[in-house]
Amino acid sequence: MEALGKLKQFDAYPKTLEDFRVKTCGGATVTIVSGLLMLLLFLSELQYYLTTEVHPELYVDKSRGDKLKINIDVFFPHMPCAYLSIDAMDVAGEQQLDVEHNLFKQRLDKDGIPVSSEAERHELGKVEVKVFDPDSLDPDRCFSQKMQEQKNEGCQVYGFLEVNKVAGNFHFAPGKSFQQSHVHVHDLQSFGLDNINMTHHIRHLSFGEDYPGIVNPLDRTNVTAPQASMMFQYFVKVVPTVYMKVDGEVLRTNQFSVTRHEKVANGLMGDQGLPGVFVLYELSPMMVKLTEKHRSFTHFLTGVCAIIGGMFTVAGLIDSLIYHSARAIQKKIDLGKTT
Ligand SMILES: *[C@@H]1O[C@H](CO)[C@@H](O)[C@H](O)[C@H]1NC(C)=O
Repeated sequence: MEALGKLKQFDAYPKTLEDFRVKTCGGATVTIVSGLLMLLLFLSELQYYLTTEVHPELYVDKSRGDKLKINIDVFFPHMPCAYLSIDAMDVAGEQQLDVEHNLFKQRLDKDGIPVSSEAERHELGKVEVKVFDPDSLDPDRCFSQKMQEQKNEGCQVYGFLEVNKVAGNFHFAPGKSFQQSHVHVHDLQSFGLDNINMTHHIRHLSFGEDYPGIVNPLDRTNVTAPQASMMFQYFVKVVPTVYMKVDGEVLRTNQFSVTRHEKVANGLMGDQGLPGVFVLYELSPMMVKLTEKHRSFTHFLTGVCAIIGGMFTVAGLIDSLIYHSARAIQKKIDLGKTT
């Protein structure tokens, strides 16, 4: 009995006698409001706990030799498919003819409505139309016909390229391209430079698969060419990224950052450049590893306790404030009545 009496001294929660307690309407209101608030805060805490957090890490990328998959979906509203050639080159300027690719060209009118029912598979660096043939009497006839037919059309290019994981570029440019003493050139003589409108809408461009929360900075960008025969260059830095999902699935992909440069390529002497859209990519030596993780349960528990305790204390303060001020006012009123 003696020991129990000693233990009582440590009670941090001394109780008042029931008889001295009064229940008030103000107290009930405070209880209900604070209860609702508590529930709201608890739910938001629970929702936060049920999401996963992504933990980033930085490494030097040692995994060379892989392939780089480039997903493309670009629309050229003023560039008929017959004109447009697509080439992929590596850093040395050599044309990559052995790349795995699956690119399609879809003829669209200016408003983006398909002209032909099915898209045409495009071969990289393929001679689409005979531009110059010295033996033929009218070398441009075939080309002119196709041009005339598609004159007011646009072209959508979509699909993917799979290139070696080294720096390189790919471009969309008018005119047939060919290799001339190791220099990549485009034949432009068949159409006037004034007619080349390189306005383009990038619907999608990515370097690999998408992971949750990826930002592809060029998606849905519309670029209008203010002048004829413009050259657009996109300098892309590709950052290899590994995404580890919470269920153990590993996704090897890439993020990228980009800067755009544009100029008029009017073909004047000494002017380096061709009209077209050029994407020059480089690989970053650093690799990002993103790991999805569950949130800590003890943190959740701490948060819940803080909500309940905090709410309880604050509600108690508010309640006693209301109670005491109400009583003070009541007293004043009673005093006024008696005098
Ligand atoms: C190219 O076409 C766009 C409309 O899509 C237009 O706004 C722009 O002025 C044109 N540029 C030239 C040089 O004609």
